[in-house]
Amino acid sequence: MSKKPKVVILGTGGTIAGAGSKASNVTGYRPSVIGVDALVAAVPQLKEVAELEAQQLFQVASYLLETSHWLQLARAATDALARSDVSGVVITHGTDTLEETAYFLHLAVRSEKPVVVTGAMRPATALSADGPMNLYNAVSLAASPDAAGKGVLVALNDRIACARDVTKTHTSGLETFRSTEYGNLGQMENGAPRFYRTPLRRHTAFAEFVVAGLEELPRVEIVMGYVGATGAPVAAALANGASGIVYAGTGAGNFTAAAREALIEDVRAAIGSALPRSGDP
Ligand code: SIN
Repeated sequence: MSKKPKVVILGTGGTIAGAGSKASNVTGYRPSVIGVDALVAAVPQLKEVAELEAQQLFQVASYLLETSHWLQLARAATDALARSDVSGVVITHGTDTLEETAYFLHLAVRSEKPVVVTGAMRPATALSADGPMNLYNAVSLAASPDAAGKGVLVALNDRIACARDVTKTHTSGLETFRSTEYGNLGQMENGAPRFYRTPLRRHTAFAEFVVAGLEELPRVEIVMGYVGATGAPVAAALANGASGIVYAGTGAGNFTAAAREALIEDVRAAIGSALPRSGDP
């Protein structure tokens, strides 16, 4: 009998590890309470596709994650994938910020081996819980040579998405992860991936970012543009020591006069005179 590929499963919490008081509860449950070993034990079919090694990296709802968790995750995934006996990594994760973690790893993990992030919309105790099939598909995908070189993949609800493109579009629906602009990369069928596209932008082993050795990431605040936006959020971000601000402007990155003033004058005051004055050509 041929040896099965080895897949390392890194458990981080979320609804996939959640428990409710009744099987009919799909909201109002406690996320991040069931250990990754129990999630694996609940799907005996996993043993048919891969040799498994499960590690509880942390047990945190994804809305409580810090960027320090990302560094820990990038390190753990990179270390696991550097092992010659490991074919791929699966990460079980809360869905609230799954797309953010997946995209960070897409740019930070230094390996061409498959990395698959999955989660669930229903807790493990729910009728028709989606976690077990999502985990089965994620492990099957991570074990597949077809998934290599495609960067970090997001696998939920039988779909395979690129971490760069995917976003959560519905609070509770099962078909919530969508890649609205470019579409999914493929789908899972009976535990086998069927790919239709491949990502062409730089990622993982070929990304320009190196996070190895970093103890922390700089704090960058996101400030939204909207009708009547004042400069107050920019000033507050600077007052709280932000190292940078991403201004999510309207349209093609436009802003109100007050926001523009704050982005130029307040930022100039915070970093010295390196920026042109707002009246400069
Ligand atoms: C979380 O993001 O940790 C909770 C919600 C979920 O996993 O769906």
